Amino acid sequence: MSGPRRLFMMVGMTQRSNHIVPSSPPSPPRPHRVVAGLLLLSLVPVVASGVRVLGFVTTDVPGADEQRFFDQPVPIILHAVFASLFLVGGALQFPRGIRRRFPRAHRWAGYGLLPAGAIMAATGLWMTLRYPRVDLDGPWLDGARVLVAGATLVFLAQGGLTLARRRYLDHGAWMMRAYALGLGAGTQVFTSLPVFFVDAAHNQTGRFVSMAAGWAINLAVAEWVLFRRRAHTKPGRPRGWRPVPAG
Ligand code: HEM
Repeated sequence: MSGPRRLFMMVGMTQRSNHIVPSSPPSPPRPHRVVAGLLLLSLVPVVASGVRVLGFVTTDVPGADEQRFFDQPVPIILHAVFASLFLVGGALQFPRGIRRRFPRAHRWAGYGLLPAGAIMAATGLWMTLRYPRVDLDGPWLDGARVLVAGATLVFLAQGGLTLARRRYLDHGAWMMRAYALGLGAGTQVFTSLPVFFVDAAHNQTGRFVSMAAGWAINLAVAEWVLFRRRAHTKPGRPRGWRPVPAG
């Protein structure tokens, strides 16, 4: 090992490519804050899902804008139920503290959440392709939904494959990307505000931009978190690994 590299390691630093970074990661955010934040962002879409499902019991005469759901209710019911499970259950899977304290619960919840996410994405894809389009949803939004649903399925498949190969860091990264796209439904609550409150944005372009922004922001945040983690993790070693000084 080169002299400078050993020196960095002894003082708790590592040198990789041209960067010098601390070998110990920054202290992670407190688990309850992460969970609370994710659940808060999930709140509106989860409540909307409940309202949509309850609507099948409480609505006598569906409005024109919801007729498609009543004509073919199975996909939207599956979508609302499994997307909600994915968002709420997923929020508890990410904080490292919870994973370490309850490894079995993490494993068993994960076995349920992988298919839940897949059903969410597959039904999202099905509805995009089969439900009649409402006025505000143009072809660009359809394209974005197909892309996002497809990407979510790919990310989940990668999450499952890396898990089977015991590549846990990669597994976490793929699951985070899939979750970020699902949680787009929460971010879209905020990015869609102009569509509802600004006349000039109340059109297909405004709707597409607001929806795409929700997915893009979440994916960017997930990639940023993963980038920061990679910067603090030596390849091939578990996170938090520190060299033991000789002697
Ligand atoms: C991969 C991510 C997702 C995709 C691609 C997707 C796609 C879709 C599509 C295509 C529709 C039908 C739109 C229409 O015909 O008006 C829909 C409706 C819906 N989705 Fe998602 N969705 C996703 C994630 C979620 C999540 C995470 C939730 C909440 C937990 C959610 C809750 C709903 C609800 C409640 C509706 C019904 C909306 C209404 O009542 O008008 N979706 N989604």
